[in-house]
Amino acid sequence: MKFENLIRKNILSLRPYTSASDIYDSNEGILLDANENSWGSTFDEIEGLHLNRYPDPHQKDLRKIVGNYYSIPEENLFFGVGSDEIIDLIIRIFCEPQKDNVIIPEPTYGMYKVACDINNVETLEVLLNDDFQIDFSAIEKKYNSNTKIIFLCSPNNPTGNLLKKDDVLTLCKKYNSIIVVDEAYIDFSPEDTLVNEIKNNENLIILRTFSKAWGLAGIRLGYCVANIDIINIFFKVKAPYNINSLTRYALETAIGNAGKKDKYAAGIIRERGRLKNQLETLPGVIAVYNSDANYLLVKCKNSKEIQKQLAEKGIIIRDRSSQPKLESCFRISIGSEEENDILWNAIKKLV
Ligand SMILES: Cc1ncc(COP(=O)(O)O)c(C=O)c1O
Repeated sequence: MKFENLIRKNILSLRPYTSASDIYDSNEGILLDANENSWGSTFDEIEGLHLNRYPDPHQKDLRKIVGNYYSIPEENLFFGVGSDEIIDLIIRIFCEPQKDNVIIPEPTYGMYKVACDINNVETLEVLLNDDFQIDFSAIEKKYNSNTKIIFLCSPNNPTGNLLKKDDVLTLCKKYNSIIVVDEAYIDFSPEDTLVNEIKNNENLIILRTFSKAWGLAGIRLGYCVANIDIINIFFKVKAPYNINSLTRYALETAIGNAGKKDKYAAGIIRERGRLKNQLETLPGVIAVYNSDANYLLVKCKNSKEIQKQLAEKGIIIRDRSSQPKLESCFRISIGSEEENDILWNAIKKLV
């Protein structure tokens, strides 16, 4: 594959923003290069944070910490302000507005299409098959020489299922386009990540996030794993200081508590099974789909009415019935044991 052919010409020729930290180690010396406030910060400082200084544009600490934890080479990692920022960057790197297009097999996570729309990049309508797996013939019918990206989500939001690994790898081999696999929910799944496949598939980008199993949605930190040429392009186009120092500090602390993440994931998986069994006993429930994520997709008679009545009791779930193939469906995030009990006691009287 001619990987470079996929990148927009203006991005290939872009001369990125530079700062003195590209030349000198900016933690050392008298730092009078970046118009910062040398007198200090108005925040009650946490030792070692130095919030009066701009954060490291090279993401060195983040790459080291996360690379170590997941045994991923540092040079294959790039961090964004949530994986949502990386989704946007991928579109901006590869798609010429009003010329190129993106395939997003639906139903899936809504931000892929929103990010394309914001960037004025066309999306081609393709559906997953009835098992919510990749439908090769549907993709083949729409795919054309301007298709730059195919977005996949595994486990898929909102259906909860993993995509078949072999199918994803077949797509990588078959098409000269970027294949994005969003693994936001992989910690709730028994299946292995596709991260190791980036070695053999230079068009593969894996998206991950700290917003789910790690319980860090508030710090806005996501990352991607890809071959080094793609990673270098991300560094070229990102805002110079995209990941702030407080986020980096929170991540360092969180990695030290990784056992907690595993405990959360195990508890959520256990509760997911319990809630699924309970919901399946209700006569109005048509299907509770198998889930490898931290939510359940439920097909139910009077789904809209049930959501409305739950909301009146202060219990908020997500209507998904306007998405293709998801008529009468809603998605329930798995809460704490107590929240799940409250939900169960309310919903069993309604369905
Ligand atoms: C599949 C998927 N990818 C990405 C995200 C966003 O992740 P982040 O919080 O890292 O932006 C979500 C959020 O719900 C999601 O469902």
